[in-house]
Amino acid sequence: MSPNEPLVLGIETSCDETGVGIVAGSTLLADAVASSVEEHARFGGVVPEIASRAHVDAMLPTIERACATAGVTLRDLDAIAVTAGPGHAGALLVGTAAAKALALGLGKPLYGVNHLAAHVAVDRLQHGELPPCLALLVSGGHSSLLWVPDITESVESLGATIDDAAGEAFDKVARVLGLGFPGGPLIDAAARTGDPEFVAFPRGLTRGRDLERHRFDFSFSGLKTAVARWVEGRQAAGQPVPVNDVAASFQEAVCDVLVRKAVDACTDRGAETLVLGGGVAANSRLRELAAQRCAQRGITLRVPRPGLCTDNGAMVAALGAASVAAGRPPSHLDFVTDSSMRVTRVSA
Ligand code: KG4
Ligand code: ZN
Repeated sequence: MSPNEPLVLGIETSCDETGVGIVAGSTLLADAVASSVEEHARFGGVVPEIASRAHVDAMLPTIERACATAGVTLRDLDAIAVTAGPGHAGALLVGTAAAKALALGLGKPLYGVNHLAAHVAVDRLQHGELPPCLALLVSGGHSSLLWVPDITESVESLGATIDDAAGEAFDKVARVLGLGFPGGPLIDAAARTGDPEFVAFPRGLTRGRDLERHRFDFSFSGLKTAVARWVEGRQAAGQPVPVNDVAASFQEAVCDVLVRKAVDACTDRGAETLVLGGGVAANSRLRELAAQRCAQRGITLRVPRPGLCTDNGAMVAALGAASVAAGRPPSHLDFVTDSSMRVTRVSA
């Protein structure tokens, strides 16, 4: 192996996507994803037991698909990486059991990595090695502002949501608007033809004492309730709900707060680079607003393409390969999964 170009297979099973990615250094060779999202749609959210069973069914075919796409065999690999947490406990166990079996059977080192750090690390596959940076991590379960000196070693949390995650708010508001699940992409699409100024929804923790106490924290629960109340008010009055306008106004409120705080955190830390990561970073308005405001402040914005923002195996392989290249020690084969793994812990 070339020490800077390790061939690493990454396995992701923290939620409803079975992802297997293969990278050589920072070059993406394969990104196979099997999703059970359609099986969860009628429940309006991910059902952990259904997700776990789907991972069991999809695991070996997805590994085979990734190897075929990359044109490599398992014996060619230099290391295996896998999501150790956070996520649904049963779902994580399926991925880590597969990864441990591969590592043991093939005699390869195993890297148990943090799913959240992997959402940031994936950007190296598109834009090259990460400099010390500020990261806005926005997914279905987390919304955090992170200071990242070295993604293979340390992540500092500057702030996080004090109630709902941004993705959770998208999913819940989509349900209120009758759009379906998962809500993020559906709201994104509906908002394209809506008026973002139709309703002035609240921007949580952006003023007065709230801002002083929670400078880099987020709150989306009040916003979600405000949307629900507004919709109920229209329905009670027998008036139609302008779904696209409400979607656009809600999306604008979320994106405004996320970008405002991220850019302020960059200034506060003297960070020259902002990286967006996580499923909500696929949002078109978030990407647009971040690009505008970063340009105004002279901050370099790095956003992975939408397919790399939502859960996938390439992000896990990306962090694993960066860890190998940085000379980090592998995990012990008996590491345990951690369904509530803290964002500040990079590896198992
Ligand atoms: O990172 P991710 O794929 O899974 C978790 O680790 O949670 O994030 C999933 C979340 C869901 O809440 C989904 O609605 C949201 O990301 N999402 C979006 C978009 N695409 C996915 N939210 C807003 N706009 C999008 N285009
Ligand atoms: Zn995720």
